[in-house]
Amino acid sequence: MLSVKQIESGYGESIILRDVSIEVKPGQVVCIMGRNGVGKTTLTKTIMGALKSKTGSISYNNQDITKLPPYERSRLGIGYVPQGREIFAQLTVQENLLLGLEANRTVKNGVPQSSIEKFPVLSSMYNRKGGDLSGGQQQQLAFARALASKPKLLLLDEPTEGIQPSIVQDIQDVIRGIKAQGETAILLVEQSIDFVKSVADYYYIIEKGAIVAEGTIETFDDAVVRQHLVV
Ligand SMILES: Nc1ncnc2c1ncn2[C@@H]1O[C@H](COP(=O)(O)OP(=O)(O)OP(=O)(O)O)[C@@H](O)[C@H]1O
Ligand SMILES: [Mg+2]
Repeated sequence: MLSVKQIESGYGESIILRDVSIEVKPGQVVCIMGRNGVGKTTLTKTIMGALKSKTGSISYNNQDITKLPPYERSRLGIGYVPQGREIFAQLTVQENLLLGLEANRTVKNGVPQSSIEKFPVLSSMYNRKGGDLSGGQQQQLAFARALASKPKLLLLDEPTEGIQPSIVQDIQDVIRGIKAQGETAILLVEQSIDFVKSVADYYYIIEKGAIVAEGTIETFDDAVVRQHLVV
């Protein structure tokens, strides 16, 4: 459903990603791993359209989206939870969730119950400002906001970064639940090896802006970890 072919992308004159190709099939959880600064976020931003790829192509459900602006990619069903969450601190939880709906106007009748019930903690905080939530709660809000638009492909950029273990577990459960339903594919940037092993179907490892290893999760063994991920 997502096919990234030989893209090159970066910031101004500086090229970060070179010849990067990845595939996500319907309902799959695909993980992107790699050390800090190798280009994982650059890849998610390029798929979302916040950065333009200089070469190569990106197709989604057999449609070429390489030149589409981000909001059109959202409308086609690509949801995005950026690294660092980026919720609106001055808006309430409810208002943040409603903004998620703007990404896809085909969703009617308000924020879908299915997006909120995955994060029970949020329902008791509807009128609280986003900025007054804990980091973990903000992460859950960002996740629920992305789900409000009923995405068919969800990009998650390090959703467990700096989050306490119990909320990491909640997020893992939500990802596994989405996977079990089989209606939404997930492209997950994640640094925790155990987390990846517990949710992924397929993995890619990036080093210096290029894919250096990939395979089904069964092939993600200690040798791969030692070679590419251990500092
Ligand atoms: N706005 C920007 N302008 C210029 N260079 C940038 C910008 N954002 C990131 N970079 C550079 O691009 C490279 C890749 O950054 P990126 O954020 O994609 O890495 P990452 O793999 O997501 O790292 P992390 O694990 O720390 O999140 C880094 O060298 C970074 O300094
Ligand atoms: Mg990053």
